[in-house]
Amino acid sequence: MKDRRGHLIVFEGIDGTGKSTQISELAKYLTGQGYEVVTTREPTDGPYGQKIRQLYTDRTLCDAKEELDLFINDRRQHVNEVIAPALRKGKIVLSDRYYFSTAAYQGANGCDPDEIFKANSFAPQPDLMLLLTMDVEQSVYRIKKLRGDEPDHFEGVEYLRKVSVLFDSFTHPFIKRIAAASVPDKVSSAIIREVELLLRGTE
Ligand code: TMP
Repeated sequence: MKDRRGHLIVFEGIDGTGKSTQISELAKYLTGQGYEVVTTREPTDGPYGQKIRQLYTDRTLCDAKEELDLFINDRRQHVNEVIAPALRKGKIVLSDRYYFSTAAYQGANGCDPDEIFKANSFAPQPDLMLLLTMDVEQSVYRIKKLRGDEPDHFEGVEYLRKVSVLFDSFTHPFIKRIAAASVPDKVSSAIIREVELLLRGTE
């Protein structure tokens, strides 16, 4: 993207690590500092995102390749309609999940992570990826106890273990790992530190 002026910050990690709480805390902080912030998420609420949500309760609705295509089509639309226009306007975009989730989750479902990265080359590279880390057992405990939910088809322990191993294997230079098991305020402070470093470095 030649005319990109804003910043793209993405949150990644297995389910139950508190991404949405942390995104809203960071959005509040940045807005208070005078930045224009757009918060968004994947899967989106668009047509592909809605199809994807049906898979949460029944993953047998499509095969692994069809599932991968749904996530990629959803992202293409997300980039074209939300992310790229906001970056062109100089905004800070905070996205709850991005193409690393596809590489990790669909990678754990039998697709090749490197091929997935290649298939996502249309998507702008983030300036910062905050990878929220936590033991799989603890994340599943949080899904069950704190969210009051039963884990869905993407949240089984064995599957999330594979997802977690893939997240751990990514070495992109813009990835910062944040230990997400401590109290939310501590996690927020660690996130703000990384974001300040990014923003100060590019002002
Ligand atoms: P969330 O809305 O709770 O983050 O749930 C989204 C689910 O979708 C989560 O289990 C991860 C999964 N997912 C993928 O499998 N691939 C992807 O590319 C994305 C964005 C999400």
